Amino acid sequence: MIKITTAAEETREVITEWKRQGLSVGFVPTMGFLHEGHKSLIDKAAKDNDRVAVSVFVNPMQFSPNEDLDKYPRDFAADTKLCEESGADLIFHPTPEELYPDGFCSFVDMTGPTAELCGKSRPIHFRGVCTVVNKLFNIIQPDRAYFGQKDAQQLAVIRRMVKDLNMPVEVIGCPIIREADGLAKSSRNKYLSEDERKAALILSKTIFMGEKMLKNGEKSISALLEAMRKNIEAEPLAKIDYVDAVDADSIRKIDAVQGRVLVAIAVYIGKTRLIDNFIFEA
Ligand code: PAJ
Repeated sequence: MIKITTAAEETREVITEWKRQGLSVGFVPTMGFLHEGHKSLIDKAAKDNDRVAVSVFVNPMQFSPNEDLDKYPRDFAADTKLCEESGADLIFHPTPEELYPDGFCSFVDMTGPTAELCGKSRPIHFRGVCTVVNKLFNIIQPDRAYFGQKDAQQLAVIRRMVKDLNMPVEVIGCPIIREADGLAKSSRNKYLSEDERKAALILSKTIFMGEKMLKNGEKSISALLEAMRKNIEAEPLAKIDYVDAVDADSIRKIDAVQGRVLVAIAVYIGKTRLIDNFIFEA
């Protein structure tokens, strides 16, 4: 039976006992409403480690007041089933009060890789992500932690935080899992109406198109981004937040195709903001 904890202290006790037995610990942080994207991370963690902990916590700190914190989808029973089936051993499912008790006032903030892409349209987002991931790392003390390439900037930010703050954890990036028609799996896909679900395909179509352009030798970043923007603008239900190319590690803007190029897009389909990306190694 999978163990479910809600208190940090009790979670620590479980992990301490595993460590005492010399078992390695893999960790998959999530906000729940788990799908096959999350499952791929848990599966990988189960393959690489003796024990796997998953956190399910919709982190209020990474949502701006105008965002979807209140309606973010939740289904803890289904999450528990998926975790069990994927071979997870522990789910840490704290309340906001458990992680942010009265008087909480310490944060992990970052400049650099948080300045572009989602950092521009969601100014407090990465402060919330870094703070909660730091707390979760301290509670779980994993040997390895698993993050999806779906949130490419988040992965780069976490790698940077771990390096800068000498955190004793190995960060492992995992590929984007997609629906059969190409749409990247996301808990937020649930918000889409039938028409919006069809329109949302413009994200993956544009990503595949951009990838093909670079593979076919396109050398101009501005021509690439222009073609991608045009493609999205042709979809009436889509509104661009950003279409950008940055260095995949530093998340600095680039104007030439060199190194590891991250091409990332954020697009509103109706009221739902979706993201997608690809990395091209020049
Ligand atoms: P959440 O959106 O639930 O995602 C949890 C993890 O699953 C992230 O590392 C994300 O990149 C990965 N993931 C989501 N969809 C994926 C897909 N289609 N393919 C592969 N991986 C996918 O990201 C967060 O939660 C939060 O910001 C968190 C890190 C938990 C901090 O609160």
